[in-house]
Amino acid sequence: MDKFIINGPTPLNGDISISGSKNAALPILTACLAFPGIYTLKNVPDLRDTRTMLRLLEIIGCKISKETESIVIDSINCNNPEAPYELVKTMRASFYVLGPLLSRFNYAKVSLPGGCAWGPRPIDYHLTAFEELGANIDLDSGYIITEGSLSSAKIRFPKPSVGATGNVIMACSSLEEEVTIENAAMEPEISDLCHFLSKAGVSFDGIDTSTLKIKGIKHKNPINLSYTVIPDRIEAGTFLIAGAMNGGRLRLNNVNANHLENVIDNLIKSGSKIELLENSIIIDSDKNITPVDLSTDVYPGYPTDLQAQWIALMCIANGKSVIKDTVYLDRFTHVPELIRLGAKIRMDKNIAIIEGVKQLKSAKVMSTDIRASASLIIAAMNSEGQTYLSRIYHIDRGYEKIEEKLNNVGASVKRINE
Ligand code: UD1
Repeated sequence: MDKFIINGPTPLNGDISISGSKNAALPILTACLAFPGIYTLKNVPDLRDTRTMLRLLEIIGCKISKETESIVIDSINCNNPEAPYELVKTMRASFYVLGPLLSRFNYAKVSLPGGCAWGPRPIDYHLTAFEELGANIDLDSGYIITEGSLSSAKIRFPKPSVGATGNVIMACSSLEEEVTIENAAMEPEISDLCHFLSKAGVSFDGIDTSTLKIKGIKHKNPINLSYTVIPDRIEAGTFLIAGAMNGGRLRLNNVNANHLENVIDNLIKSGSKIELLENSIIIDSDKNITPVDLSTDVYPGYPTDLQAQWIALMCIANGKSVIKDTVYLDRFTHVPELIRLGAKIRMDKNIAIIEGVKQLKSAKVMSTDIRASASLIIAAMNSEGQTYLSRIYHIDRGYEKIEEKLNNVGASVKRINE
């Protein structure tokens, strides 16, 4: 299994190009199933998760070809509306195929996602919404089977859910009656899905707001479209926090700063200097970190996907900080690993109380999920000595060429296989 050996401390200076967004690419890839067509997608990051999704699309019947700058998906002859357990268990986002398959075939059979390192991650909002749209839902041998043609409905989620909002949007792509989603997720990845489906002829009212109206379309012939996925705000946020924690001057290119307002505000409060240019962000840090308390929240709040990285930063702040995750209450598996690097962190339910230390020290640590691994890499670059980070297959799910990007700006991250 691959491991990283990370030598620290290393300041970070130079340019990093941000990849396309994983969490926007995944639903957009599945949305290619909604209408038979040829789709040319640009800025799809090359990750374990996007490869898993492409494998799933092939099982469903898509033909996929990779070109230098794009991926072409031919979904014209898809005929197998099923997502097997073997793939869904490795990536929960596979569940996204349910909506577009239901829209196209009035039928979908998708394995029920299993457990998750962050505690329970239910799918009840997805299923209740499909029922409200008129689908029948059954559970058979661990598979969710949804059937039926959908009709107009007003859906109100108990709280905003990215996955459920995306799944319902895709389920409605070919429904020519209006569907309203109240309390819809407003994450930029949801807006990107709407913009992609708009190109396919679906009408939307309320993109970027919490009340989304969707009117689908029926196509007589296969469609043909090309689309460029938005930059990954979580990858960008991770590198910004890495810059703040490790000192130096980093310039991130191919990034949309509007998607990172809350993160940038908090970085400024914590002492970094930030300059915004068109499509680029420059961060300057002298590693003199002011403690900043924060709570994660749905967009435009501080993202839960950057909670672990913020905790890493606060480990070397000049004082005490309190970080609360309100989205995923159990998402703290990075904390015991950060403590192995010398961090002083105490947990009280979903709240981490961090007492900043002057210097972290290297150790053997373990990745437990995508963002936890990112936080450990950031912290290891700051730690004195050589850190071994195991189980880095997690990081490969969500960060394209991370060691290459970091080594280009002065880090020392080496991949070994043992
Ligand atoms: C997506 C992201 C993930 C991110 C999360 C929150 C992808 C592939 N993953 O996950 O990286 O951390 O958004 O920004 O885009 N909930 C229910 N029932 C449901 C669905 C959700 O109770 O049926 C709850 C969840 O337990 C959680 C909250 O709603 O507390 C938000 O979850 P959701 O937005 O659905 O997360 P995902 O789409 O799974």
